[in-house]
Amino acid sequence: MCGIFGCISQQSQNLIENTLQGLKILEYRGYDSAGIAYHTDNNLQNNSIKVIKSVGDISQLAQKLKNPPKTNICIGHTRWATNGTVTKENSHPHLSFNDEIAVVHNGIIENYQSCCDFLAMNNISLRTPVDTEVIPNILYLLHHNKHNIHNYLQGQYVFCATGNSETELFLAKKGNLPLYIGRNNEQTIFITSDTLALPSNTTEIIILEDLDTCEITNNEIKFYNQSKPVTRKWQPFYQSFIATDKNGFSTYMEKEINEIPAVLQAILTKYHTDKNITSLRKQFHDLLKDVNCIHICGCGTSYHAALILAKIFERDLRIRTIAHISSELSPQTILSEKSIGIVISQSGETADTLVCMDVLQQKQIPIIAFCNVTTSTIAKRSQITFPLLCGPEIAVASTKVFCAAVLVGCLLVKNYTQNTQAEFLKTTHQILQNARQILPQPVSRPDKIFIIGKDIFYALALEAALKIKEVTYLHCEGYPANELKHGPLSMVDNNTLAIAFGNDTDNAKAEIEARGGKVITITNHTNNPLEFISQIIPAQTFALDLAHSLNINPDKPRNLAKSVTVL
Ligand code: G6P
Repeated sequence: MCGIFGCISQQSQNLIENTLQGLKILEYRGYDSAGIAYHTDNNLQNNSIKVIKSVGDISQLAQKLKNPPKTNICIGHTRWATNGTVTKENSHPHLSFNDEIAVVHNGIIENYQSCCDFLAMNNISLRTPVDTEVIPNILYLLHHNKHNIHNYLQGQYVFCATGNSETELFLAKKGNLPLYIGRNNEQTIFITSDTLALPSNTTEIIILEDLDTCEITNNEIKFYNQSKPVTRKWQPFYQSFIATDKNGFSTYMEKEINEIPAVLQAILTKYHTDKNITSLRKQFHDLLKDVNCIHICGCGTSYHAALILAKIFERDLRIRTIAHISSELSPQTILSEKSIGIVISQSGETADTLVCMDVLQQKQIPIIAFCNVTTSTIAKRSQITFPLLCGPEIAVASTKVFCAAVLVGCLLVKNYTQNTQAEFLKTTHQILQNARQILPQPVSRPDKIFIIGKDIFYALALEAALKIKEVTYLHCEGYPANELKHGPLSMVDNNTLAIAFGNDTDNAKAEIEARGGKVITITNHTNNPLEFISQIIPAQTFALDLAHSLNINPDKPRNLAKSVTVL
C-alpha cells in the first residue's frame, strides 16, 4: 500500500538519493507507481518545485534521476492505486494548480466531491481524478491558516506538503494511519509512514497523533493539534537487528523462512528473561482473572494464528475463546462485558483490524496486541502489546511472523520445560533443513491442491493453502480432514494433490487415494507440544519453490500488498 518518505536538511545534500533509498525500502508494501518532489534552490527567490514521477518500480524512477542535484528538501511516495487508474499523472506528488505546493498522501479524502466544489467556487479546477490533488489546492487557499486543514478534509489520512516559497515540510494526520519523524546526529530530519524506511543511523523518532499538524523547518519543528500549539517528545529509536537486505538469499521469502529458528529462539529467550515482558505477562494474567470470553482477531495469516491460539487458549485456560476474521466482527457480534480482545498483526496497520478494534473499544473491552511492529497504530491503541521480535518481514506472504505469533500465544498460557524448548528448537532446525524432502515438489503440476488436517492442524492447513494461493496463483483449499467427504471429494481425481497435516487423517487420505489423488503426509517427528508450529515450514518452502518454478516472484505476488491500510 502507499508509502511516504521525505527529508529536510540545513544544507543541500544528496536528499534525492536518500528519498529513493527510503522509497526502495517501502517497495515491499506493494505499489504501482512512484514519484518525488524536490526544491531546486535553497534561495526562495529562485526556488521552484520539481516533480518526477513514473509508473512501475523505483528503478524506473531512479532512471529518470541519474546524477540528481543536491537539495535541502525532498518528498517521495509509492502509490497503490485506489482512486484513479495507474498512470504517471495520477501518481504522487500532486501539485497545486499554480505548481507552488506539492503533496504526498496516504489514505482517502472521503469528502472529495465537496472539496472539488469548494475549489471550483474559487476557480480552481483539478487535473486528475485523484483525491490527493485537493490537498495542495486547499492548502494554497488556506495560506497562513493551514493548521485548519483538518476542518476541510474528512476521512483517515496522513500527508506531507512542501511549498516553493517556504523552507518547510508541513505534515498532517487524521485517524489511524501512521506518520513518523526521525532524526540522526547529522542534522537531517526524515519523515516516513513506515519506520522500516528510516536510515539505520536514526536515533530518535516522534509519532504524530490524531489531528496533529506539524511544521518542520531546517532548524525547528512545531506541532499543533486542532490549530493549538502542542508538545511532542522525541523517543529513542532502535532499528531492527535483522537486516533489510536479502542476506545472500534470492528472495525475501526464502530469507525469512530461514530466519524462523533464530526468531523462535529469540522469543523463547526474551519471554523468559526480559523483565518488561514478565510485567506485561502479569498484567495479561490479571486481566484474565475476571474474563469469561476471549476474542482473538486478525486478517489473512494473522487470522490463522488466531484460529490456532483460540483452540490452545480454550484448552489451556478453560475460557471460551473465539477467533474472528477482523472484518467479520461487527457491532452486532455478541461481546460480553467480561471479554478481552486480542488482535494479531504483523504490520500493526491493517485497516480491517483497526476497525475491529473500534468495535471492541466501543464496548470498553480491553485489547491486547501481538504485533511485530511495536511502533504501529495497533500497538499504540492496545492496552498491552506483546512484541513478536521478528525484525522486518518484507515478503508479502507472511512466514516467520506466523510462527512467532503462535509461539508467543503458547508461551503466555503455558509453561514449557527447558528440555521441551530445546527439543523444539532442534526439531525446527531439522524440519527447516529437510523441508524439501518432507514435502517434495510434485512431478507434474496438479490441477487441484487440497490441504487437510484436524483441529489445530486444520488451521495449519488453511495457512499452508493461503501461502500456496498467495505466491503460486494456483487454486488450493484448506479443509477439515473429515469434512472432505461431505462435498469436495467430488472434485478429487488423478490430477489432485493432497497434503495431510497431523496423524489423524487416515480415512480422508484413503478416500483421496481411492479416487486417484496423490497424498503427502506431514507428521510429527517428536511428541513435542510446540512442534506443530514448525510443521508449517515445509508448506512455506513448497509454496516458495512452486512459485519459482512458475516464474512468479514470491516476494511481490500480483494484486496483493504487505500492509493493507484500506478497508
Ligand atoms: C495482507 C497481507 C497478508 C497478511 C494480512 C494481515 O493481506 O497480504 O499476508 O497476512 O494482510 O496483515 P497483518 O499485518 O495485520 O498481519
